[in-house]
Amino acid sequence: MARIVLAMATTHGPQLHTTVEQWALRVKADQARKHPYRREMRSFDELVAMRSGEGLEAKSSPTGMAESHRRCQAGMRVLAAKWDEIKPDIAVVLGNDQNEMFETEELNPAFFVFCGEKIPNYLQSDARRKELPPGVAEAEHGHATETYTEYDGVPDLARHIVDTLIARDFDVAVSSRWPRNARNGAGHAFGHIYRQVMRDKVVPNVPILQNTFFPPNQPSAQRAYDFGRAVKQAIDSWADDKTVAVFGSGGMSHFVIDEQFDRAFVDALARKDKDYLASIPLSDLQSGTSELKSWITLAGVLKDVDCTMHEIDYVPCYRSVAGTGTANGFYWWEMTR
Ligand SMILES: [Fe+2]
Repeated sequence: MARIVLAMATTHGPQLHTTVEQWALRVKADQARKHPYRREMRSFDELVAMRSGEGLEAKSSPTGMAESHRRCQAGMRVLAAKWDEIKPDIAVVLGNDQNEMFETEELNPAFFVFCGEKIPNYLQSDARRKELPPGVAEAEHGHATETYTEYDGVPDLARHIVDTLIARDFDVAVSSRWPRNARNGAGHAFGHIYRQVMRDKVVPNVPILQNTFFPPNQPSAQRAYDFGRAVKQAIDSWADDKTVAVFGSGGMSHFVIDEQFDRAFVDALARKDKDYLASIPLSDLQSGTSELKSWITLAGVLKDVDCTMHEIDYVPCYRSVAGTGTANGFYWWEMTR
């Protein structure tokens, strides 16, 4: 029978793949719009006033950002080393899509399991890159490959996961071929795992995505958690004798960092607090922070797995005195039986 031997949760955002000078490119866009923060939409100036006592001048200074950058690169290296050490046979990757695999206005499945043989990865076209906000296109190398690359899927496990989900009343979307119109194949949530954790030595894997981000069909935290329970049942009951890694890719609080929210979330994750995780309201899981739902699904997977969470680092990468930026975190679970 298949067996989970490793779990990891990692952020995957552009700040991990850009220089601190490039982080600053995003501030103009931060200033131009409102952001969800503590359940209200706030302007940049409001955020500056609200957060004036938090020492963000130092944290978003060139020196502060350089230190955050260094810690993130170190955290990613630890995840990659742990991956190399344990070397699971296959992986299940829980992530989200942001107009990469699917054009959201055309199709945006709440839950999706890729059941095909091959997962492509490649740089997007110059024309499409020009549509991206500043500071994002510069990060593409972090998840996309210079030349067209294909990784193996695990169609048999993917189909078994779908059968299990359907039997548990999850009406999941499927595809046995990657969409032809995908921007850059796998997309950032998946490509980050392939490039930064597996370091391009990609094992056969099942990409599973949920729409964390875009109204109106974002699953609730409870649903995300229960989905993870079903995925775990499928892994447990898959007849193939493979070792399995499960990844939660996305998060943490962004594009306004909320360290208090992240700390409470991580503490709940460590103690497997289903009641806390599954009851986080959607109003707290908007914009980039919504990606933590992939971690909630991972928590569902790990509910009855004997394991201990390790925090490699938690790094709030501020890029402005308004608290804009991305909080980055690197976590793995050691199996204890
Ligand atoms: Fe993302």
